[in-house]
Amino acid sequence: MNTLIIGGTTGLGLELAKKYHTNGDVVIVTGRKEVKVPFEFKPFDLSEANLASRIGIFISEIPTIERLVYAAGYFQEGRITDLSDDNIEEMINVGGRGLIYFVKSILEKQGSLEELVTITSTSQWTPRQKEPIYNFIKAGGAHFSNAVAEDGRVAKVLVAGPAGMRTAFWEDVERDDLDEVLDPSWVADQIVELENDTYTYRFVRILRQPARVEIIETR
Ligand SMILES: NC(=O)c1ccc[n+]([C@@H]2O[C@H](COP(=O)([O-])OP(=O)(O)OC[C@H]3O[C@@H](n4cnc5c(N)ncnc54)[C@H](OP(=O)(O)O)[C@@H]3O)[C@@H](O)[C@H]2O)c1
Repeated sequence: MNTLIIGGTTGLGLELAKKYHTNGDVVIVTGRKEVKVPFEFKPFDLSEANLASRIGIFISEIPTIERLVYAAGYFQEGRITDLSDDNIEEMINVGGRGLIYFVKSILEKQGSLEELVTITSTSQWTPRQKEPIYNFIKAGGAHFSNAVAEDGRVAKVLVAGPAGMRTAFWEDVERDDLDEVLDPSWVADQIVELENDTYTYRFVRILRQPARVEIIETR
């Protein structure tokens, strides 16, 4: 499958890219920092202005996409009044608007998409005092993806909410339990396996201690 992974240069997105590539899929990954990968890297900054039109141009310049994986994200901590307007807008762009406009642009160009994989977080369903905007984008991204599964033009939607993973996400954060969090390669294996079944929509939680997959809904 021709696969586009938004936020595929490190962490979970990169692990998924490696697995799809090994399975023979054509993979394009995006991020801001260039990485050397055995598949195509295309820079795309989700924080910059004119997001919707830049996404439209990006999609118009690449081949038909069969699988879109939306894995971009970063850690943001602070109560709503601790965050600047710019902090809030950036998180909404990276986690929310990016997902919406990539799906919209692909459907406008192609008329259909075989598969959408949306990576959320336990913050999708767990409210946290210091993650109000992250809570907003993960819950919204999940529900948006669920709605898109009802559209008919996206044949299959997987929403996967992982618990903590050992990735660059935590690069600038003090966290003393990093040896206990999930291995992103293991999480990627679970996602690839979960994609194999036949369904229109599936929501899974990928949890830790013990590492496990809970399928919450399939239809
Ligand atoms: N790690 C965890 O504990 C954890 C837990 C639950 C859910 N998640 C979610 O899992 C997904 C993958 O995260 P990860 O843990 O794999 O983190 P990661 O290693 O930091 O990867 C994040 C990816 O998003 C890209 N990205 C971030 N900000 C961007 C921006 N402004 N513009 C363009 N690309 C941007 C990064 O590329 P550049 O840095 O090159 O821009 C990178 O490719 C995210 O949606 C995250 O919210 C993570």
